[in-house]
Amino acid sequence: LFNMAAPYSIFRPNLFKNKVAIVTGGGTGIGKGITEELLHLGCKVVVASRNEERLRKAAEDMRNRLVVAQPHTGADLLAIPCNIRKENEVKNLMESTLEKFHKIDFLVNNGGGQYISHVEDISTKGWQAVIDTNLTGAFLMCREAFHSGMKENGGSIVNIIADMVKGMLFMGHSGAARAGVENMTKTMAIEWAKYGIRINCVLPGSAIYSESAAMNYGDPALFERLKPEIPARRLGTVQEVSAAVCFLLSPGASFVSGATLNVDSGGSLYSRNFFEIPDHDRWPAPLEGQTEDDGGQGSTPPSKL
Ligand code: ADE
Repeated sequence: LFNMAAPYSIFRPNLFKNKVAIVTGGGTGIGKGITEELLHLGCKVVVASRNEERLRKAAEDMRNRLVVAQPHTGADLLAIPCNIRKENEVKNLMESTLEKFHKIDFLVNNGGGQYISHVEDISTKGWQAVIDTNLTGAFLMCREAFHSGMKENGGSIVNIIADMVKGMLFMGHSGAARAGVENMTKTMAIEWAKYGIRINCVLPGSAIYSESAAMNYGDPALFERLKPEIPARRLGTVQEVSAAVCFLLSPGASFVSGATLNVDSGGSLYSRNFFEIPDHDRWPAPLEGQTEDDGGQGSTPPSKL
């Protein structure tokens, strides 16, 4: 068992002290990993998610470990239920954030989701729901963050997309939405440069393991089957995605905008052909304490919490 009281981060303590971030979809998986690292680095974080009960549980857990247990960091956490599809709820989220923390420095649009379907079987309602959440939700969040202080004070936005580089098999709705977010990000990067706003995408490969992703797809073997297709020949961790997000939010990325940072060990470039990726154990391990659910096969520390 790992001591997750202080998630391992390569970034210096206090990096985000006195900064305020909003993270959507912050109750589970990648969003929770991002929230934890931001708190670890002294950030004040508003986590938003549609699922109120799951959000409250995750927030309580994170507050105990990363706010109450380390008061000297200045970290603070506020959980606000918000359906990002709804304009009024997004506006309310911004207002609540300003009320509590008085500004918004960072926005991480991580909330989203999809379900598996052949394109010909996607109902109009299902299509609309996935576009509303992943594309319109990200748009509304960016627009309202802009009008809630970023226009005056600048800021940094990271949009989490998905591996739709070669289409998105059996998730055509999500692929279309994510490609839309990537394109919207490029436009905003140019239009909002004059306001001191940087905006980038992080693209986690499908090999990023989280329990919530495994549950969502209902088949734990799915991740195991992916391995021969991953140049790293191991799964990625949510913390490896979070590190990329923290970099893009940080002053280290002060000249980076409109970019997409793939966190996939190169997997989005590869498709099975005559030549398989040779099995190997040479890829750098995740940082200590990170969870790659590798069934105990990898060169890394234990696989399960
Ligand atoms: N995560 C998944 N769907 C969401 C939604 N509609 N609003 C906020 N977070 C979400």
